[in-house]
Amino acid sequence: MVNIGVLISGTGTNLQAIIDGIKLGKIPGKIRLVISNKEDAYGLVRCKKENIESLFIDPKGYDNISYCRRLMEEFKKRDVELIVLAGFMRILSEEFVQAYRNRIINIHPSLIPSFSGKGYYGERVHQAVLDYGVKYTGATVHFVDEGADTGPIILQEVVIVDEDDTVETLREKVLRVEHKILVEAVSLYCQNKLIVKGRKVRIDRE
Ligand code: GRF
Repeated sequence: MVNIGVLISGTGTNLQAIIDGIKLGKIPGKIRLVISNKEDAYGLVRCKKENIESLFIDPKGYDNISYCRRLMEEFKKRDVELIVLAGFMRILSEEFVQAYRNRIINIHPSLIPSFSGKGYYGERVHQAVLDYGVKYTGATVHFVDEGADTGPIILQEVVIVDEDDTVETLREKVLRVEHKILVEAVSLYCQNKLIVKGRKVRIDRE
């Protein structure tokens, strides 16, 4: 049973997908702690409803390195092995990434490396997709490295961009795919089926 820690900043629909995935027996893991950097993140309400320990840790008063040290402290206390960034809107320190090398999973709402990296988050991603006029977008789950959305890719899934799509309709379509591949990636990790070699992630499908 893998101890999972989750970092959130907002509505927490990806967090909810993991919670539901565990309940449905798809993920051999347990969420030990959820931390939000936003006090009003609805994801914290989800934790209360699901009886999952959660903390709001205010970044005010910390620089990023000491904030990340505080996060690591809380996760260490609960023997967390896998960290999931579920709509988390901060960049992790190098120290944090190194301490949890290939044990931090992030979900991004595009087909990385398109529409990813600095400044590409939330609805801005979908707006850029529409502005560019691509025919396909999608979602990507990847391990976190020192860069922004640059770590080894675990899973991706395509979403067709329809002519009448808006930011809202695209966000909805992509979010559904995010939930699906995030649950699959966390499940594969907990089953020890993800083998990382450099930039490549091989999935042991036996
Ligand atoms: C999602 O679009 C996710 O891709 C991005 O944060 C957004 C909010 O997700 N990383 P959630 O509903 O808070 O899980």
